[in-house]
Amino acid sequence: MTRFVTFEGIEGCGKTTQIRLAAAWLAERGIPVLATAEPGGTPLGRKIREILLNRSSCAIGAEAELLLFAAARAQHVRETILPALEEGQWVLCDRFADATLAYQGFGRGLDAAFIRTLNDFSTCSLKPDLTLLFDLPVEAGLARAKKRTAGTRAQKAEDRFEREEKAFYRKIKDRHHTQLLLPSLGRYWFHERIRDGYLNLAAGEPERFRIIDGAADVETVHREVCLRLAELL
Ligand code: TMP
Repeated sequence: MTRFVTFEGIEGCGKTTQIRLAAAWLAERGIPVLATAEPGGTPLGRKIREILLNRSSCAIGAEAELLLFAAARAQHVRETILPALEEGQWVLCDRFADATLAYQGFGRGLDAAFIRTLNDFSTCSLKPDLTLLFDLPVEAGLARAKKRTAGTRAQKAEDRFEREEKAFYRKIKDRHHTQLLLPSLGRYWFHERIRDGYLNLAAGEPERFRIIDGAADVETVHREVCLRLAELL
């Protein structure tokens, strides 16, 4: 019986801290566990991550971005995740196929049916047994992410999303020659669409997803994560 658990959510939702704590919690109980992340988790994945998150080096369109995430995942599943599961380890993964539906599908507007087919191909049809969605308001998540990455290389990735948000804002403004519409457009901004996307995915598969309040303090969230993991023990 495999135990494949994915951690998902918008920027600054706290999933990376929680995956570290969860891995330690399982290890303390003598449970063999592998904590891994996407894009990453293999030498190829780390190279793709570098390309994707350091965009100043070259232009990457939404379609190429989608295929790069899929390529990283195809290698990750075959080289790291499936072998670990076959050995009987628990695998905790920081983002997986749902992230592509949320970011490239809901966020960038690429075709969801195509992404599902691509996800199926890149994952060998592997589905998480449990997906923990750390949900919190976009402003709170972005504020946390900014604080964490201020002055670091990771800032580039978040700067990129911010630039996109501002470009979208300007486009709408130019099109309507007015700012009056802007407040009502708030929920369509990139990160809002991603948050809505995740919640939508969770509503579609309530048996797999557990939504956790990502705005709570680290200890409270960790307790909630442990409860969810204990259900799988
Ligand atoms: P991280 O911040 O969780 O390490 O993820 C890196 C970035 O990549 C984050 O902004 C989300 C984004 N991403 C996608 O857009 N699509 C994907 O399929 C994955 C796995 C991540």
